[in-house]
Amino acid sequence: MTGGVQSTTAGEVVVVGAGSAGLYAAITAAREGARTLLVSQAPLASTASYWAQGGIAAALGPDDSADLHQADTLAAGRRAGRASAAQVLVQDSPTAVRDLIALGVDFDRDARGELARGLEGGHSRRRVVHAGGSATGRRITRELSAQAAEHPLITVVEHASAKALAIDDGRCVGVRVRIDDRDDVTLAARAVILATGGCAALWARSTNPPAAIGSGLTMAHAAGAQLADLEFLQFHPTALLSPSRNQGFLISEAIRGDGATLVDGDGERFVDELAPRDEVAAAVERRRTGADGRPAGDVFLDMREIDRVMFPNVFAKIEEAGFDPSRDLIPVAPAAHYGMGGVVTDLNARSRVPGLLAVGECACTGLHGANRLASNSLAECVVFGRRAALAALAEPALSSAARERTGTGGAWAEPAAPDPDPAATRDLLWRDAGIERDADGLRRLAASPNPLVRLIGTSAIAREETRGAHHRRDFPETDPALDFQHFVIGSDDRPRAERWE
Ligand code: SIN
Repeated sequence: MTGGVQSTTAGEVVVVGAGSAGLYAAITAAREGARTLLVSQAPLASTASYWAQGGIAAALGPDDSADLHQADTLAAGRRAGRASAAQVLVQDSPTAVRDLIALGVDFDRDARGELARGLEGGHSRRRVVHAGGSATGRRITRELSAQAAEHPLITVVEHASAKALAIDDGRCVGVRVRIDDRDDVTLAARAVILATGGCAALWARSTNPPAAIGSGLTMAHAAGAQLADLEFLQFHPTALLSPSRNQGFLISEAIRGDGATLVDGDGERFVDELAPRDEVAAAVERRRTGADGRPAGDVFLDMREIDRVMFPNVFAKIEEAGFDPSRDLIPVAPAAHYGMGGVVTDLNARSRVPGLLAVGECACTGLHGANRLASNSLAECVVFGRRAALAALAEPALSSAARERTGTGGAWAEPAAPDPDPAATRDLLWRDAGIERDADGLRRLAASPNPLVRLIGTSAIAREETRGAHHRRDFPETDPALDFQHFVIGSDDRPRAERWE
């Protein structure tokens, strides 16, 4: 450790990350009466949840059911999704929405005062609820942050970035954080919940905030947790292409749900805009690059008929970039959006390291398979955030001896040194681990100085097939033998295929 002041604070649970999953887990733990430490690295507006435009998918309508939502989730996941995880999500997401309402989130209503239900790609029913139209993530995180800040049992540790997990006698008993880039503080607890978000900002064109580089995955792996499904990275089909400002800004799928169309340079439509996201992203990519991979043409979103009232922040960002959505066709391209893989957990967010849990995009229950269904991720944050908090509180209390050992040095699972050249890494991933990929490019990733990129490369090499979000030029077919198989990486860094019940 090279920081200035060093000190130790103890709670019953430490939650690392203050997006929706972390906030909701912290609030749940505090409601159970537990003293909770919530580690917040970035300002609120820098979390992926805050940026989220999609809503929460929940079977709330009279024409809908948990079974239909589950069937859509698994169909989108392309025979790689875990049915038991999908079942938990679809059964509990209506309750999650009701609880968010009780916590003060004001979801949009229709003319009769009922929750307005939007349509997004891959959903067979209108089941996506929004708050403030495309400002859903912002509204939810604002409300939950206010609740967390006011709760007497939650201490928010601000400007703090997690550096390493403390392991005592095989259990995770705390985390070391650096505050204001200067002072190291050990936060000791009976359990640590990682809610650190994903890694899609490792790619050059990304819809994610810059901090989404998979720090939680790297830390958990160093502590002995398994990672899985790292090869499954979802590309959002409609990120803004802008030479001036707001490059990569996400233009919500809900806008296509309200009738916006995708057209090529000749004004021709070429894909069902509400097909699951992998299909739409691949069609856009092919139209832009042509069959031989060379630039072929531009793709535009025609949103001239869309009512700006529902999507005020999207319109504002597009206008800032110099386009007028009511008159212009908007140039779009796929961008790295969401990692389906992460820290392997059971359905209660527990990793294989006792006392270490993970939830939200940094976790991998297998729920999303090879292609997440739109708006299932905020639902996942709340549904599994609650389970994570309850499972954390079921861990044995931290003994005073363990607490003392942790405070006086402990056994730190130190992740590898930071990436020496993040810009080169972003270009590398964009070129070699895009929608279209092959073994030659993926082998280059396996030699990256960034340890997580190496694992992404190794996992992607192991999956010798095309499935969901990616297309292997050298293995263009889906291999039925790999249906429902997850490539899991443990401490030896070698992916092994596993089937999860
Ligand atoms: C979107 O609004 O298109 C993104 C929603 C999501 O990623 O689920």
